[in-house]
Amino acid sequence: MKILAFNSSPKMDKGNTALILNPFLEGAREAGGEVEVFCTKTLNINPCQGEFNCWLKTPGKCFQEDDMQMLHPKLREADVWVFASPLYVWGVSGPMKNLMDRIIPLIEPSIELRYGHCTHPIRTDVKTRSIVLVSSCGFWEMDNFHPLLVQMEMLCKVIGFHFAGALLRPHAHVLAPMLQAGMPVGDVLQATKQAGRQLVENGTVSAETLKMVSRDLMSREVFLQVANAQFEEAMEALEVA
Ligand SMILES: Cc1cc2nc3c(=O)[nH]c(=O)nc-3n(C[C@H](O)[C@H](O)[C@H](O)COP(=O)(O)O)c2cc1C
Repeated sequence: MKILAFNSSPKMDKGNTALILNPFLEGAREAGGEVEVFCTKTLNINPCQGEFNCWLKTPGKCFQEDDMQMLHPKLREADVWVFASPLYVWGVSGPMKNLMDRIIPLIEPSIELRYGHCTHPIRTDVKTRSIVLVSSCGFWEMDNFHPLLVQMEMLCKVIGFHFAGALLRPHAHVLAPMLQAGMPVGDVLQATKQAGRQLVENGTVSAETLKMVSRDLMSREVFLQVANAQFEEAMEALEVA
């Protein structure tokens, strides 16, 4: 299974999103998956210009000479796309949105009625059939991911892909300090790795595993105290400096 992953956190490998993405990809590799991962921060991906040349004038090809020229063949060849993004204003971050918008050349310029809904067929030279979403957010509640989930579900529905799993990590910024302090939260990373193995072995991640990735790390009351103490500490450190 060829897995093509994108991490759109500006913190790249040092961020909360990578804390979930990296063990997931490690599990996929261990199960025999062929993984390639890119950080959007190191790529030059311009916004879509919306002129539809890639549908009408040069079918399947975007006119913009940027890193999407290198990525389009990889996107066509991969079995699974993994979109990993921090939650920014209840959606993906800007660079990830640019990347997602630039998938349009891989889609046919026609509309079909499938399962009672208007859809776009994916071009026949695209092998991909599944998407995995990975995201981390600051707030405590899982419902912060709802708008992002709806967007991904819609994308999968319209282009006929299988939504193979959403690895969602709420109150993500407390995970790394808890791990460093030796608190019993290692099971979250183990579940994340297990999710990668399941993707390669079964083509999908089980609901039970996804639940473990997202499990509460602390009560909401404790979270409020911890998060506000972290803010105060950071501001005091700035005042001292
Ligand atoms: C511009 C911006 C917007 C954000 N919007 C949200 C949000 O809508 N909901 C939320 O829970 N967290 C939000 N956050 C917090 C991030 O999602 C969270 O810190 C995330 O884990 C960062 O991931 P990273 O370390 O991989 O970059 C926002 C952070 C920034 C910088």
